Parts: sequence; structure tokens; C-alpha cells
Amino acid sequence: MAEFEVTTPAARYPVVVERGAISRIPEFVPESCGKLFVVSTGDVWKLHGERVSDALGGGGFDVLFLPGGEENKRFAPVEELAERLVELGADRSSLIVAFGGGIVTDMAGFLAAIFMRGIPVIQIPTTLLAQVDAGVGGKTGVNLAIGKNLIGSFHQPLAVLVDPEVLPSLPEREYRAGLYEIIKAGVIAEERLFDFLVENRERVLARDQAAVEHIIAESVRLKCEVVSADEHEKGLRRILNFGHTFGHALEAETRYSRFLHGEAVAWGMRAATHLALMLGILARVPGEQILGAISSYGPIPMMAGINAKALAARMLNDKKTIQKRVHFVLPVRIGAVQVHADIPEMMVRNAMERAIDETRSAEFDEVSA
Ligand code: GLY
Repeated sequence: MAEFEVTTPAARYPVVVERGAISRIPEFVPESCGKLFVVSTGDVWKLHGERVSDALGGGGFDVLFLPGGEENKRFAPVEELAERLVELGADRSSLIVAFGGGIVTDMAGFLAAIFMRGIPVIQIPTTLLAQVDAGVGGKTGVNLAIGKNLIGSFHQPLAVLVDPEVLPSLPEREYRAGLYEIIKAGVIAEERLFDFLVENRERVLARDQAAVEHIIAESVRLKCEVVSADEHEKGLRRILNFGHTFGHALEAETRYSRFLHGEAVAWGMRAATHLALMLGILARVPGEQILGAISSYGPIPMMAGINAKALAARMLNDKKTIQKRVHFVLPVRIGAVQVHADIPEMMVRNAMERAIDETRSAEFDEVSA
């Protein structure tokens, strides 16, 4: 078991990483709390709803469902759920428990952020990606067709409960998507975590309990430290966007339907690594180590039909683009990154072309959706 804390000017809350953490929900429900609503997807509820229900004594709450799938991470389902909350008697004293993967934690967190100008939320992420990244740190929101997460709000939860007991049922592809975000954590700030992932690949892919709990705890620890230092992404928190400028463009370009978020980030980390190599800010050996680590946890879906020019155009709609200056988080060694802007577009496109070509090579198999 491990327990971390996020401390921001506006909030202070625990992030519990523990087998059976779901059973601890009541500890984090304030006495003054009114009606309780669990927001989930049908799939997650079917698999693990009983854990939440048991924790809450079998009743005294309503469950609301989101459709699931990145292509459904839009404003309309949030509005529908808000209407439903009113019909069910929700008011400002109500509490939302977000129970699902990153799409649910983002959307239910956003619902909590805007319902009656804000009600509390407890985050219970159920995918590896949401446990190590999306569910921690208070980022909430939905996609627009034109760009990823362009509508949203920072809304810190009362608590985050990370329960590794839900992971064995996670589909293989979803599991690997989460591992890419853990590789990200290693590259940006945790060389030892990166080395662990390289040296323990078999154990990690076999979901060895001790190995998985170690990499979750290390990633969550880093995320809590970064968010505590820079809640609103004015400085340090930007490092968490390694691979994301490229990855978000890829997700939007493929209409959020071909890649899981973590897979798009994996491809984006490849493109960012090539860009850093081209700029000469990253040496060849660590560059190859980063590319090798990402490949070793592959495959990601094929890049057929995707071109670098279209992706470069997409980047202009990225949240990280300020006054038309596209920002990239680039590795300078394993465990350290820098934020760069004003990189010539041709160079960015060349880096993407390299990363696109690699996914066409034999290194990757096609992954069915
Ligand atoms: N997923 C990046 C962040 O939370 O800042």
C-alpha cells in the first residue's frame, strides 16, 4: 500500500494506491454530503460495480452511465447526465463518484466541475492509464471534433482511490496503453522507473503483482509531486505533455477512433524523440533506448493513410499552442525533458515522417480495434 498527497492552493487530497482501495470510499465521503451518484460505463459497472456497491452498503446511491469510447468523449453526454442529475434530485450537496477509465474520470470530473457551478467528486480510475495519469491531478473535460480536450476545467477531487485489483480484467491493448504513460513518467523525470520498465518487461507484461504495483506507485508519486508544484500547468506540469502535442493531433486526425489515448502518446513520444535527435539536444544512445523501450511494449495500430502535413496543421488547434507557437516537450536525456517552441515546421514534419515510417515497418503488427 502507498498513499500520496496532492497539495495545491485550492485543495489537499490523498491518492491511495492499495489493493481493495475501493472498499474505502465511505472514509472520503463528507458527513455533510447529500445524494451520491456513481458515474461509470456499462462495461466497467458489470465487471466491478459490485465492489463499489459493497463499499457503499449495497444502496443509497444512483448509477449513471456514460457511453465510453474516446469518440464519445463529447459535451452532449455530459449535458444529458446533468439533466438526469436534476431529475434524480441532485443539488449542491451531492457528490459524484467517477468510476472508470480516463474518459469517465475526465467526463464525470467535468460534470462535477460544472454542475450547479461545482460539486465534489471522488475519482476511482479503473484502467492503468487513468490510475497513473488521467485520474490524478484534477484535469477534466471533453473533446471537440477539431481538437482534443479543448473544453474543460481543473476540478480537484476529494480523493483518488487506485485499486490494482481491477486490473487483471483490463484488455491487453488497454493495459499496454497505460504502460506507455508509465514509460512517459520514466523519460520525463524518473530514470530508475525507466530502467525498471526495461529490465522487467516480461514481469510487467505478465502483470506480475509486485511489478505492477511498483510502477503504479512510482508514477502516481511523480504525478502528485508535479501537480502539487504546478496545478494549472503554468510551468513544471507541462512536462507531463511529453508525446502529447503529436499524440493529440493524431487522435483528432483519426477522429478519436483508431488509437487509444496511450497509443497515440506512444507514437507521439517516438516523434518527439526523433525531433530531439534532429535538434541535437538528445544523444543517439538514450534516443535509441527511448525508442526501443516504446517498441518493446508495442505494438500500436498502423499509421496507414496518415500524413505529417495534416498532423502539423492539427497542432495549431492544440491547447499548448499559444499565439500560433506550437510547444513540444522533448527529451534531453532519460529522466529530463525541455519545452521547445519555434521549431521549423519542416523539421517537425520530418520527425513525424520518421515515426510514421517506423510504424509501417515490420516492427509493429496491425492491432485490431
Ligand atoms: N495528463 C497530463 C496532466 O495531467 O497534466
